[in-house]
Amino acid sequence: MADAIVLREHGGPTSLELESIETGRPGIGELRIRQTAIGVNFHDVYVRSGLYQTLALPGIPGIEAAGVVEEVGPGVSGFAVGDHIAYVTAGYGAYASERILPADLALRLPSAISDEVAATVLLRGLTADMLMRQVHRVQAGDEVLVHAAAGGVGRLLCQWISHLGATVIGTVGSAAKAELARKAGCRHTILYREENFVERVRELTGGHGVGVVYDSVGRDTFFGSLDCLAVRGHLVNFGQSSGSVAPFEVSRLAARSNSVTRPILFHYIALREARERMAADLFDLLAQGVLSAEPGKAFPLAQAATAHAELESRLAPGPLLLIP
Ligand SMILES: NC(=O)c1ccc[n+]([C@@H]2O[C@H](COP(=O)([O-])OP(=O)(O)OC[C@H]3O[C@@H](n4cnc5c(N)ncnc54)[C@H](OP(=O)(O)O)[C@@H]3O)[C@@H](O)[C@H]2O)c1
Repeated sequence: MADAIVLREHGGPTSLELESIETGRPGIGELRIRQTAIGVNFHDVYVRSGLYQTLALPGIPGIEAAGVVEEVGPGVSGFAVGDHIAYVTAGYGAYASERILPADLALRLPSAISDEVAATVLLRGLTADMLMRQVHRVQAGDEVLVHAAAGGVGRLLCQWISHLGATVIGTVGSAAKAELARKAGCRHTILYREENFVERVRELTGGHGVGVVYDSVGRDTFFGSLDCLAVRGHLVNFGQSSGSVAPFEVSRLAARSNSVTRPILFHYIALREARERMAADLFDLLAQGVLSAEPGKAFPLAQAATAHAELESRLAPGPLLLIP
C-alpha cells in the first residue's frame, strides 16, 4: 500500500486528503517508482479549485516528482532498479509515495542533481526554456518584462535572459522579493503593488516599451502588460496566479501590431525527444551555474493542504515540495 493525496471534490486546500492506495505492478512499458520529492505547482491549485477540470475525480493530483525506480515492467529498456529519475506529466498522480509511471516519461537524473532539486526545478526550468527559446526567442540586447520575477519560473527566466545579454525588468510583490529578483539578474525591479508598472516600464525603455512580456499573473497584470509592449511586441501569458484574464477585443492589438500567446508546457514536451533535449539543456545550465536551483521548502505529503495554502498566500519563500 502507498500513501496518496486524493481529491474527491473541488474546493479549498482542505479538500486534499491523505488516503492509502494500492499501487500494483508495472505493466508493459511501465516503471514502479518510489517517490522521494514531489513538486507543488500553481497548476495543482487550479486543479484542486476546479479552474482546470482536467483531473477526473476522485483523483490523485500532481504533475511533477522525482524518485527511485523500484521495479521495471516488461519491454522497458534503459532503466534499472535504483535509477534516480524525475518527470513532468499531464496524466497526474504525482501526490503519492509510490506510483506506476510510463517509462517513456522518466528522465534519468545526472548524479549532480538531487531528487529534491529536480522536483523544484524540472517543470519550471522546462517552462523557462519553452518561453524564452521557443515561444519568443530572446536575444542579446532585448528588453524584457518578467512579472513575478522573484517566483520560481520568474527567477529562472531572469537568470537565463540576463545570461544571454538581454535586459530584464521584473515586477515583484515586496522589497525582499526585489532583492531576490536583482540577485537573479533583474536590472530593474518594480514593486507592482505600489507603483504603476506601465509608467515605470515606459520610463525605463525611453518610452518605446519592451519587445516581450512574460506574464504569469494574469487578471491583475494582463492589460497593463499589453500597454508595456513596443511596436510588434509580444505578450506571452503563461499563467493566472491572480485569476483568469477577462475577454478582450483582438482589434486592440492593432494599435502597435502586438501579438499574444498562451502556451502550455505539455504541448512543448509531448515528444520524448523534445523533453529529453530540454531536460538535458536544463541540467547542463544548472551544472554550469548559469541557472541555480533554490532549495524548496519541504512539507510532509500529508500536509499538502498546508503547502497549497502557503502557495496561494503569496508568501512562499521559494518552490514548495512534498516529501512522502
Ligand atoms: N503555461 C505553463 O505551461 C506553465 C508552466 C509552469 C508554470 N506556469 C504558471 O506560471 C506561474 C508561476 O509559477 P511558479 O511555480 O513559478 O509560481 P511563483 O511565481 O513562484 O508564484 C506565483 C507568484 O505570483 C505572484 N502573484 C501575483 N498575484 C498573485 C496572487 N493574487 N496570488 C498569488 N500569487 C500572486 C506572486 O509573486 P509576487 O508576490 O512577487 O507578486 C507569487 O509568488 C503560475 O501561474 C503557473 O501556473 C505555467
